[in-house]
Amino acid sequence: MKIVNTIQEVRDQVKEWRRQGLSVGLVPTMGYLHEGHKSLIDRAVEQNDRVVVSVFVNPMQFGPGEDLESYPRDMDRDAALCEKAGAHLIFHPEPSEMYQKDFSSYVDMNTLTGGLCGKSRPVHFRGVCTVVSKLFHIVTPDRAYFGQKDAQQLAVISHMVSDLNFGIEIVGCPIVREEDGLAKSSRNTYLNPEERKAATVLNRSLEEAQELFLAGESRAEVLKERICQILEAEPLARIDYVELVDWQSLEPVEEINGCVLMAIAVFIGKTRLIDNRIIEK
Ligand code: PAJ
Repeated sequence: MKIVNTIQEVRDQVKEWRRQGLSVGLVPTMGYLHEGHKSLIDRAVEQNDRVVVSVFVNPMQFGPGEDLESYPRDMDRDAALCEKAGAHLIFHPEPSEMYQKDFSSYVDMNTLTGGLCGKSRPVHFRGVCTVVSKLFHIVTPDRAYFGQKDAQQLAVISHMVSDLNFGIEIVGCPIVREEDGLAKSSRNTYLNPEERKAATVLNRSLEEAQELFLAGESRAEVLKERICQILEAEPLARIDYVELVDWQSLEPVEEINGCVLMAIAVFIGKTRLIDNRIIEK
């Protein structure tokens, strides 16, 4: 496995692979990799001859006052995980390699990005769409892998690829969880032991709503109230949002009909965590 820092090195390597007729999968990440990321790499290794993992903490998707500086980084550990998982190339650029001084072009989206995480993080999806577009142009993969953990991101990227004719297959992968149900996240490292325990409330609230739904409740408002009730009973939790939206349009629904995304964002202490479940009728 090779680690490269420049766009040119990626292009040269991919050109060589293409000359040999090999397929290429891309797993975009911000590093500090865990089992969730590994599940994406595993899937990419299964489905492609060569796999590129990008490790880049993208400044453009962080708003003012967010955790850009404190975002955890550990390249040695990331490289070991990628190698063990069977990746072939890590692209680990400096911000200056991705954004030249006079950088001024963006990829933005009018639909899908206004609600959920887009509401409390107004510049986030513009940053995600821009960096993922750049990675797609640099790597030109056949397939790219994204986790359902960031469900809105997965929907936004799929839509962008269709709008802009990238011709790349977007593969969505299920959420990987800790044993107690907490969705794996690089940001879980911010939690102290007490907060870590409290954080299980996210999954628990979604699980209870899902059970209520399976027992026959199909009013979104009732399911939403149940989630809020459980979250509010946890003293360390503060709700950012609890939404039930159509999984295609990401617009709020009143009744569960078709595929519905139950999505939540919750502060546990100072750490903002997200989780979700898709229910279907
Ligand atoms: P990051 O948060 O590092 O996540 C990289 C990919 O791993 C995303 O597709 C995310 O959904 C997936 N992932 C994270 N935790 C997961 C879990 N517990 N189970 C399954 N998949 C999980 O998302 C980003 O980086 C960035 O926004 C990026 C797309 C790289 C653009 O900068």
